[in-house]
Amino acid sequence: MSQQQASLQLDWDVIIIGAGAAGLMCAATAGYQGLSVLVIDHAPKAAAKIRISGGGKCNFTNLDVSAKNYICRNPHFVKSALSRYPSNAFIELVERHGLAYEQRELGKLFCSERASDLIQILRTECDWAQVEFSLKTSVDKLRYVDERYQLQTSGGKFNANKLVIATGALSFPKLKATGFGYEIAKQFGLKVLPTRPGLVPLNFKGKWLERIAELSGLSLDVAVSAGGMRFQEAMLFTHQGLSGPGILQASNYWTEGEPIEIHLMPQVSVLDELKRLRKQAGNLNKWLSSFWPKRFVQFWQQLHPAPEDIANASDEVLEAYARQICEWRLYPAETGGYGKAEVTLGGVDTDEVSSKTFEAKKQPGLYFIGEVLDVTGWLGGYNFQFAWASAVACGLAL
Ligand code: FDA
Repeated sequence: MSQQQASLQLDWDVIIIGAGAAGLMCAATAGYQGLSVLVIDHAPKAAAKIRISGGGKCNFTNLDVSAKNYICRNPHFVKSALSRYPSNAFIELVERHGLAYEQRELGKLFCSERASDLIQILRTECDWAQVEFSLKTSVDKLRYVDERYQLQTSGGKFNANKLVIATGALSFPKLKATGFGYEIAKQFGLKVLPTRPGLVPLNFKGKWLERIAELSGLSLDVAVSAGGMRFQEAMLFTHQGLSGPGILQASNYWTEGEPIEIHLMPQVSVLDELKRLRKQAGNLNKWLSSFWPKRFVQFWQQLHPAPEDIANASDEVLEAYARQICEWRLYPAETGGYGKAEVTLGGVDTDEVSSKTFEAKKQPGLYFIGEVLDVTGWLGGYNFQFAWASAVACGLAL
């Protein structure tokens, strides 16, 4: 990957701003078509988010990807790109490079060793496609003159016939995430939908924060519902509130002021189990402990004291107790914000770009790919898969 800006030419077929997942994939695709490609990024290193993603092992795709795994104002928008570049295509690419990877629950694929192995693959592809890089470079001014894009950057002036915006979104500002892509969209008169943090922990305040913080570090297998969606995955208690995959998933559908609903034993029919215990005059405490850690059992018993004499409890009493376990309603105060969010909901309105080429309908030669768009995937490798798929669709159309 060349970073010698002194030797960089002035004129390019394509300039891509953003050397993240989408930018690198698009650059290689375009380069292989014989186009001269320059990738500009203000960060000192490419693909910072890939490096830290998936706990350092990058959940790079999922075996089961479809439009239902995405949130977008136009639910059909992602279909074309995902069908032309499915997860199998990316798996083939990494296998060609000999990447060791592993499958985890719910079809998630992770690098076996390090996420940086995946970055190396993308860098190699870019090298083979003769892509040039200008890192640590900020774009100061952008103009469209005589059907060409003129960029004034901290590394000098560059011109291009086509300009791809792959600058991602607002989450994780400490990794140099910015709203630059939104500004460019607005500069060319494209609509940007309001943004908010997604795949983000939910924080509590006051009495509930005190209660939850006492459980910090505990994890439970639950089902979390918010905004009409339900996710059965782990939930983690933290010092600020709730996190873990189940909560991150639900956060995409949660709106401030609304509750989340937690089913604390989604593996079983709680009422049937309670009736069985009644018949056997079983030990309720022991039964709760077979599902939850001791600390949570104690917490729950204080919050919702169990029926005293289970052997003689009425159906109504058991039903009420089952409801408490299956429909634990909590009111988060706020999300953990962009600093803790894995993704950003909202962004450049997909009505403004072609779902086949990702070119702006109103502005020839200007393309938007990856997370800068109003496309947000669930947790599970879906966000990277959309980055790869949108990048390839765009790269082939350049
Ligand atoms: P991405 O953010 O990757 O790249 C944007 C690039 O643009 C960056 O290199 C940035 O420096 C550059 N840039 C921004 N502003 C600029 C400016 N003004 N000038 C120049 N350059 C600029 N997804 C998933 O599928 N599986 C996972 O395991 C995870 N894990 C995960 C963990 C954490 C902690 C986070 C924060 C995110 C994830 N994600 C994820 C989400 C995933 O990282 C994200 O959706 C993709 O990286 C989006 O790819 P893009 O290329 O669109 O943006």
